[in-house]
Amino acid sequence: MKQLVVALYRKIPLSLRWQMVVWYTTAFTVLLVLTGAVFYQYLEHSLEASVDTDLQLRAQQIAAGAVISHGAVSLHNVTGDLPGFGTQPSSPPVQSVDVNAGTLVRLLDARGQLIAQTPAFQKLSVPAESIAQPLTGTPWQGTIKTPHHEEVRIDSRALRVTGKTVAIIQVGESLENLHDLLHKLVAALLVVGFLVLICCAAVSYWLAGYSFAPIQRLAETARKIKAGDLKSRVPVPPMRDDVQYLALTLNEMLESLEQSFTRQRRFVADASHELRTPVAVIRNTAGVALLDPPQIDETVTALREIRAETERLTLLLTDLLTLARGDEGQTRFEQETVQFDQLVETVAATLDQLAAERDIRLEVQIPHEVTLRGDEARLIQVVMNLLDNAIRYTNPGGLVQVSVEQTAAEACLTVRDTGIGIAPEHLPHIFERFYRADPLRRETGGSSSGLGLAIVDWIVRAHGGSIEVSSQVGQGTCFTVHLPLVLPL
Ligand SMILES: Nc1ncnc2c1ncn2[C@@H]1O[C@H](COP(=O)(O)OP(=O)(O)OP(=O)(O)O)[C@@H](O)[C@H]1O
Ligand SMILES: [Mg+2]
Repeated sequence: MKQLVVALYRKIPLSLRWQMVVWYTTAFTVLLVLTGAVFYQYLEHSLEASVDTDLQLRAQQIAAGAVISHGAVSLHNVTGDLPGFGTQPSSPPVQSVDVNAGTLVRLLDARGQLIAQTPAFQKLSVPAESIAQPLTGTPWQGTIKTPHHEEVRIDSRALRVTGKTVAIIQVGESLENLHDLLHKLVAALLVVGFLVLICCAAVSYWLAGYSFAPIQRLAETARKIKAGDLKSRVPVPPMRDDVQYLALTLNEMLESLEQSFTRQRRFVADASHELRTPVAVIRNTAGVALLDPPQIDETVTALREIRAETERLTLLLTDLLTLARGDEGQTRFEQETVQFDQLVETVAATLDQLAAERDIRLEVQIPHEVTLRGDEARLIQVVMNLLDNAIRYTNPGGLVQVSVEQTAAEACLTVRDTGIGIAPEHLPHIFERFYRADPLRRETGGSSSGLGLAIVDWIVRAHGGSIEVSSQVGQGTCFTVHLPLVLPL
């Protein structure tokens, strides 16, 4: 059924308005037909029941006029509507009398032999059962057909005197009038039903148009919003209804699209800017080295500078690629068992030398073993970046503490330093790409790219964890990473 509807929609493309009209009208037609059928059945049944009651009454009236003398039964015409009653079967049948107009009465004796009948009854061939059944004491009621296919209802019952059956009285009535009435009724119902359906279609067309007008307006406004003009919003209607919900949803979608477009544009602009600086340095240094006459010392210095810049460029490109792949959802995270305590200790040991060079004390506090599921290489990146920052942004003589703890469902990594700290206005932005709190670094780039924390944040979120930072300028900074023990990837 569903496939049929879909196939029909494909063949005959209809606007939503016309679809509503078709659906409403179809539903109403089914409802009307069902109601009409039930009504017709009920009426037919009631009318037939009333014919049966009439016949029963007539039979009783006729029975009241029965006279029994010397065992013979005869009828007095009590109701006065038995013209020609008494006509014997031997008499020629009265062709002029119609079963629809004439009275249908027949009297039989206790053996089922005809005593008398009205002329119209002669045309009927009544089944033997209509005589046999009343003789057993049960009245018989049934519908029989005349040779002209007219239907006649018959009531046949026994006339009893002191418990003994003395005769059988059969009365009948044509059902033609009743059928005529029912046919006229069906015709009237069809005409009225058709008019009602036309009205229904017209009203549903108007109603659908009225209901969809706000959506139409919404669609037109949305269409006017040109590609790239993501600042525009569709008007939100004041009524709290589906259309308002649609408008709000559209605006939310535009908002998030605008944000992601802006992020993307800024990322590209920042990336180009970041790449331009080392390339410019390489070009200038190479230019100096190529000056005439070539000086061997200057050339070697220039080549060293070029190598340093190239290494920085390589790191920057690696970070950019990591984030770009992460944005596209291309990065596959391993699900391996990671000995997190050992991982942190190893990374700290790697950076111990760097800390010592800068006269910074690096303390590691890991009271217990901590095992979790995750991507070991990525988690090393997290610890490495946080420790690198802590060492980089702490003045000589400072202290960097790293600790790992385990609660019921998560591992908690804390990296605390006594460094320069981060001003409150910078704190909400430090996880953004290319963001550097130090204005000087922001201008020159220095040796940092401003991508470290963005990568940390991305990896932690991909592991289903979270990262928090608290800092005070001149006092130090504390990063806390919460990682679930089981990876929800
Ligand atoms: N421990 C810290 N103490 C003080 N400032 C910090 C600390 N960690 C990060 N910051 C600030 O946050 C900024 C962003 O850090 P992030 O690690 O993302 O970039 P970066 O260190 O500048 O460059 P990268 O790590 O990519 O080489 C830093 O430039 C720095 O200003
Ligand atoms: Mg960093």
